[in-house]
Amino acid sequence: MLYRRVVLSLLEHPAARTIARRYGPALGVGRFVAGETVEEGLEAARRLNEKGFLVTLDYLGEAVREGRGVEEAVLTYRTLLSSLRRAGVRGDVSLKLTQLGLAFAPDRAEGAVREIAGAAREAGTSVWIDMESSAYTEGILGIYRRVRAAYPETGVALQAYLLRTESDLRSLTGPGVRVRICKGAYAEPPGVAYQRREEVEENFRRLLVLHLRAGGYAAVATHDENLIRYALSLQPEAGSLEFQMLYGVRTDLQESLLHRGYPVRIYIPFGREWYLYFARRVAERPANLTFVLRQLLSGRGGG
Ligand code: FDA
Repeated sequence: MLYRRVVLSLLEHPAARTIARRYGPALGVGRFVAGETVEEGLEAARRLNEKGFLVTLDYLGEAVREGRGVEEAVLTYRTLLSSLRRAGVRGDVSLKLTQLGLAFAPDRAEGAVREIAGAAREAGTSVWIDMESSAYTEGILGIYRRVRAAYPETGVALQAYLLRTESDLRSLTGPGVRVRICKGAYAEPPGVAYQRREEVEENFRRLLVLHLRAGGYAAVATHDENLIRYALSLQPEAGSLEFQMLYGVRTDLQESLLHRGYPVRIYIPFGREWYLYFARRVAERPANLTFVLRQLLSGRGGG
C-alpha cells in the first residue's frame, strides 16, 4: 500500500504526465493498453475471442471536466457497441463514471450511463461500471442502483480494500445481481481502506462468499492465484461466476483457467487517455516500475 501511494503520487504529478505523453510507446504502454483507436480495441477483442476468451472493452478516460468530453465518450461507446455487434464479438463494455461527468454534472453522468446501457442492450450485451477512488463510491453506487432498476443486467465493481464494501454489498446483492469483486487500485488512506494485503484478501474472500450465497453472479477480478483457488474451492454453480483479468497481465494464468474450462473475460483498455490507467498498473508492482525505467533508458520502443 505504501509503495502504491508513493508511486501514484509521483506519477500523478503533471511533470510525470508530460514526460509520459512524450515517450508513450517507449515506456512499454502497449503491454497493458491495446491501442488508441476503437479499431485497435476491436482487433484485440477478436484475437482474444478466437482463443476462447470473453472480453470487456474500456474506452480509456477519467476525470473529464467538461461536457464536450462526456459527449465524445458517449459517442465512442455507441460506435464501439454497434461495431461489437457487427463484428460478432463476444463481449461487453466497462465504463468509468468520471469519464461521463460524475465530478461536475452527476445528472449528466447518469443520463450517459442510461444511454450507453440502452445501446448495449440493443447490441445484445451489457455494461460493467468500474469503481473509482473513494471520493466517488457513493455517487457511483447511487447511479448504479437507479440504472439497475431499468437495466438489471448492468454490473458494478466493488473494491475489497474499502472498509465500507461489505455493507455496500449486503445492500446490493441478490439473485442474478452482477458484481465484479476486485482488490482496489487507488491510493486510499487508513480509515477508508484496509492497508494490509492479508486484510484485503480476507475481505475479498468474505465478499465472494456473501455474494454467491445470496445467489449473485460474481466476476472474480484478480490475478492472485490464492484467491482464484479459493473461488474454485467454493465449487460455484455453473453460470454463477466468471474470472476477469487485465489485458497483458498473467496471460499464462488466463490461458490455464480457460483451458481448464472456466469462463475468463479479459478487460481490454484502449484510447488516447491511457496515462492514469497505465500509472495504476505501474504502481501495482515494483517490477513494473523497473520495466518502465529500463525501457526508457535503453531507448527501446515497447509499443
Ligand atoms: P495482486 O496485486 O496481489 O497481484 C497478484 C499477481 O498478479 C502478482 O503477483 C502479479 O504476478 C500479477 N499482477 C498483478 N498486477 C499486475 C500488474 N499490474 N502487472 C504485472 N503483473 C501483475 N480496480 C479498481 O479499483 N476498480 C475497478 O473497477 C477495477 N476493475 C478491474 C477489472 C479487472 C478485470 C481486474 C482484473 C482488475 C480490476 N481492478 C479494478 C484492479 C484491481 O483492483 C487490482 O488493482 C489489480 O487487479 C491487481 O490486483 P490482483 O488482485 O491482481 O492482486
